[in-house]
Formats: sequence, structure tokens, C-alpha cells
Amino acid sequence: MLNLTSVVLFSGVGVHVSVGVRARTAATASPAINRATPEGKKTLRKGNVVVTGASSGLGLATAKALAETGKWNVIMACRDFLKAEKAAKAAGMPKDNYTVMHLNLASLESVRQFVKTFRYSGMPLDVLVCNAAVYLPTASEPTYTAEGFEMSVGVNHLGHFLLARELLEDLKTSDYPSKRLIIVGSITGNTNTLAGNVPPKANLGDLRGLAGGLNGPNGSTMIDGGRFDGAKAYKDSKVCNMLMMQEFHRRYHEDTGIAFASLYPGCIATTGLFREHIPLFRLLFPPFQKYITKGFVSEDEAGKRLAQVVSDPSLTKSGVYWSWNKHSASFENQLSEEASDPEKARRVWELSEKLVGLA
Ligand SMILES: NC(=O)c1ccc[n+]([C@@H]2O[C@H](COP(=O)([O-])OP(=O)(O)OC[C@H]3O[C@@H](n4cnc5c(N)ncnc54)[C@H](OP(=O)(O)O)[C@@H]3O)[C@@H](O)[C@H]2O)c1
Repeated sequence: MLNLTSVVLFSGVGVHVSVGVRARTAATASPAINRATPEGKKTLRKGNVVVTGASSGLGLATAKALAETGKWNVIMACRDFLKAEKAAKAAGMPKDNYTVMHLNLASLESVRQFVKTFRYSGMPLDVLVCNAAVYLPTASEPTYTAEGFEMSVGVNHLGHFLLARELLEDLKTSDYPSKRLIIVGSITGNTNTLAGNVPPKANLGDLRGLAGGLNGPNGSTMIDGGRFDGAKAYKDSKVCNMLMMQEFHRRYHEDTGIAFASLYPGCIATTGLFREHIPLFRLLFPPFQKYITKGFVSEDEAGKRLAQVVSDPSLTKSGVYWSWNKHSASFENQLSEEASDPEKARRVWELSEKLVGLA
């Protein structure tokens, strides 16, 4: 059944508060890098950016926007190697400007293997974009990652958490002038918006389900310890994404100079994110977003927005959750109380460290 919840779930009609609007700048404005050689000569090199989930939707559009500038080598970190290769070709991405590497975020072993493969390539890492996600709103039963975590939080949060923690070491050693770690967030996890108030609302509660390992029979599959709900699990995972961006900022920005950022790119109603939804929803959602809520953005436009967060010299501030207004100007948005709670961020960090084997 198509219901109001489904229709407005991803609506872009949220009432986030702007705390400063910036003029929109092109995604092509990445800085050229001057790197001193032993002889004292300056050389230029492309930036290297890892984008997870670059085989479709926002990730693919971002990869394309960056590759087309000629200033970036995009490492497309994807679970389906062939799909990513085909998607890059079909999008007309210049082949010298991208590399596909296998990464399945539903397996921590695969995350560790990806890190090894990336290091083996010898490329420095300048920017990491944690973009991949699954959304399972119609699932009546939970599904699990290889390590037995509920799938949405396992892929969207825990897989990315391990990846980001491991690759932080690589970012630290990069000589690129503007190093960034970006974790894609969402309006739906923010209860200070209209969209974020559509039930089931994000709520991490006292984290008892996360502490129990999110794995069913003996414990809950939900972070707050409640009954499985696929739509809520996705929203909770997005809260974790936004909390982790801030916790990275608090722990590492000052010492490393890395800029940590999150964003809501707008409602990209046409992407594969909605593939598990009922057909009627998939038919009506894009026109609803275009003509009723007016929150719709195309995949191209959303890709340019994320590419700005990767490369724009004016978007270097750390600890920021970026959004765009109706004129496509970026601004620093305000997160909900829960998504900006430092104590909750610290506890999610520590519990997640245990689950992914870092503590
Ligand atoms: N669409 C929106 O309106 C919207 C709004 C706000 C935020 N977002 C965020 O935007 C990001 C991208 O979503 P999208 O809309 O572009 O959806 P999408 O087209 O479905 O893209 C998701 C990507 O994640 C990949 N992925 C899924 N599970 C994976 C796994 N286990 N390991 C590695 N990769 C995996 C998918 O790979 P396959 O191609 O192999 O399936 C796909 O490339 C997500 O973080 C989402 O939360 C989207």
C-alpha cells in the first residue's frame, strides 16, 4: 500500500535552519596541487578520491562530475565490479580518471581487503566519500551482514565506520592541500525537519540494541532495542553517519587538518535507493517530489553538490552538515538534537569500535 509515510519519507520540504548561505561554486574548482620534488621542482598530480557505492545514483553522478574535471582520479569502491565498470562507461567517464575496486560493506573482511588493495595500489588517499547505502522499507524480517549485524546499520554505518577508521591513516599521510572525509547524511534522520518527523522516526534510544550487536534472536536488530522496522533502521543508520562525522571532527580535525563533513544532497527520487519499495511508490514518488514538495533534485545536480563538498575550496570547514537552498546555494545546516548530541556520538563510536573489532 502506498501511504503518506512512504510519500513524504524522502521529501525535501524539511525546515532545517540555515546559519549562513554561501554562493554556489562549480564542482570543477578543485585546487591543483603543487608538490615539491627532491630537485625543488613543482609537479602537479590529480587528487585521489574513494567514493563508495559509485555504481549508481548519487555516487555515480559524483564520480562522473569529479572525473570530468580531469583533476581527480576516482576510486569507485563498489560491491559489483562489472556493474560499476559498465556504469562508468555508460556515463562517459574518461577512463584515465577512474579505477574500480571491489568493496562489499556488508562484510568487514571485504572492508579490510579493500584497504589492503587500495594500499597495494600505491596511490595516496586525499578524500574519502562514504556514500553507499541500503534502504529496506518493505522488509518484514531483518537481513544480516556477514558478521551478523542488521543489514541497514551494518552497511550504512558499521561498514563505513571501519572503512573510515582504517583509511584515516592514509588520509593523514596525504600531501594534498585539502584532505576531506565525507559521510553522506539525510534529512530523514533529522527530526528537526518535516520529513524527519514522518513515522517511524529515527531514534537511537539508549543504544541497547547496538550494544547487543544488532543480531536478532537473543538481542534486538534495532539500535534502540525495539522491534525490527526497515525504514527506521535506515533513518537510525543515517543518524549514526551524521554523529560519526562530528565525532571524527572532534577527535581528529585539529591534529590532522582533515575536514570532516556530512550533507543532505536533496531528494534524488529516481535513484536505486528506492528499488525495494513497491512499484506504485516508485512510479509516483519522483513526480510527487518534483511537483508537490518541490524537493526533487536530479542525480546530476546532486552529484555536483557532493562533488563540491569533495573539491570546492570554499567548502573546507570541518564538522559541517551541508545542504543546498532552492537556488542551489550551499549552506551550513543544523542537525537535530539527537544527531548533534556529543555524548551519544561518543557512545556510538565506542560501541561501534567493539563491533568492528577496533577495541
Ligand atoms: N536518493 C535520495 O533521495 C537520497 C536522499 C538523501 C540521502 N541519500 C543518500 O545518498 C547515498 C546514495 O544513495 P542513492 O540514492 O544514490 O542510492 P543508490 O543509487 O541505491 O546507490 C547506493 C549505492 O550503494 C551501493 N551499495 C549498497 N550496498 C552495498 C554494499 N553492501 N557494499 C558496497 N556498496 C553497496 C549500491 O551498489 P549497487 O549498485 O551494487 O546496488 C549503490 O552503488 C546514500 O547514502 C543515501 O542514504 C539519498
